[in-house]
Amino acid sequence: MRRPIIAGNWKMHKTVQESIDIGVGLKRKFYTFSEADIVICPPFTALSKVSAVIMDSAIMLGAQDMYWESEGAFTGEISPSMLKDAGCRYVIIGHSERRHIFGETDEAVNKKLKVALKHGMVPIMCIGEKLEERDHGMTFEVLEKQLGRGLKDFAKDEAVRVVIAYEPVWAIGTGRTATPQQAQEAHKFIRDFIERTYDKEAAAKIRIQYGGSVKPGNIAQLMAQEDVDGALVGGASLDVNSFTEIVQNAVL
Ligand code: 13P
Repeated sequence: MRRPIIAGNWKMHKTVQESIDIGVGLKRKFYTFSEADIVICPPFTALSKVSAVIMDSAIMLGAQDMYWESEGAFTGEISPSMLKDAGCRYVIIGHSERRHIFGETDEAVNKKLKVALKHGMVPIMCIGEKLEERDHGMTFEVLEKQLGRGLKDFAKDEAVRVVIAYEPVWAIGTGRTATPQQAQEAHKFIRDFIERTYDKEAAAKIRIQYGGSVKPGNIAQLMAQEDVDGALVGGASLDVNSFTEIVQNAVL
């Protein structure tokens, strides 16, 4: 009932030409594809070129962050309308690297999510605990706080349009993926939070991705979990073949 969604977060990788090459490669594989939403999130510099490349294919474009104002004196920032102009339908918000390296707060995440929805974009809201938080048994507390503050003042019809990405920080770029059971446990907690906050219908609708060392070899087991609806892929999305295999194995 929930449509799977596989997204590639390229982070700070790839020149414009390299991005075009990946876009061309992926378009060949996914000219048409109906079993899942496929999203790629190249760096800002490559967005409009990649948009032109993947046009008319099954692949959609996303950005890795944005600011909440429409325009103005905000040196270095990018607005929702600029991203839409560049062809983006999706935008990643509150990635753990933004939170932990650049000090992004839950309040900023909340504003960005609101604005993304206002502009008709689909935000992918990242949440997840750090290793020491997991070791101290604080995983659910951290998720609850990030969800509550991130979705603060969201009506049900707004909340269900957000895609949530559970990305345990200790599993990102470490090769140490969460076990399917660990992912399921966290995803279930997230879905229960949505049910408590809104209702059963909202909980049944909202899509929850897993992120953290997703590879062609572990995606199927993760997707087999009841509450895992997709993946947010970092490193393995930088290669046409491995991202293609992940998408294909996700819907087996
Ligand atoms: P890796 O897949 O490289 O662990 O990165 C995950 C991630 O942070 C996606 O947003």
